[in-house]
Amino acid sequence: MKILFVCTGNICRSPLAEGILRKKLEHRKVKYEVDSAGFESFHVGDSPDPRALKTADKHGVEISSHRARLFTSDDFLKFDRIYIMDDSHHYTIKRFTRTDEDMDKVDYLLNAVSPGKNLNVSDPWYSDIHAFEKVFHQMDEACEIIADEIATLSRS
Ligand code: 4NP
Repeated sequence: MKILFVCTGNICRSPLAEGILRKKLEHRKVKYEVDSAGFESFHVGDSPDPRALKTADKHGVEISSHRARLFTSDDFLKFDRIYIMDDSHHYTIKRFTRTDEDMDKVDYLLNAVSPGKNLNVSDPWYSDIHAFEKVFHQMDEACEIIADEIATLSRS
């Protein structure tokens, strides 16, 4: 199973989600590929935001080797599932689709917790460290469900 998380800058939400899911899948001894990407080029090549690094560290999640990269339409070929964080990503990712089936791979991350509600993981970039803690817990809850689902699939 190959999972991609996508956000705006690929320095806050999606690297955290990638690190969270990676840890959970390793814990479950599941074969996986997890990656993350962003839609905006401002931070390409950068390490995660210091507030994301601090929050990950606090929870024993490793994201320090991550470097931001851009989403490309080839990612539809490489990944089985693509999780987006908010409505702006849903709007933007449609521009990259090559076939109708591409959008079948895309879902809001929080739909793992609240199916069909299309709830947003709000952008913490303009907020303080508390916003990072909040999004960490939202994404951790979603990734717990996704990790269990992938583990079940991999054993069937
Ligand atoms: P992210 O947060 O999409 O969760 O990585 C952002 C990071 C940077 C910017 C926006 C959102 N920015 O505008 O530079």
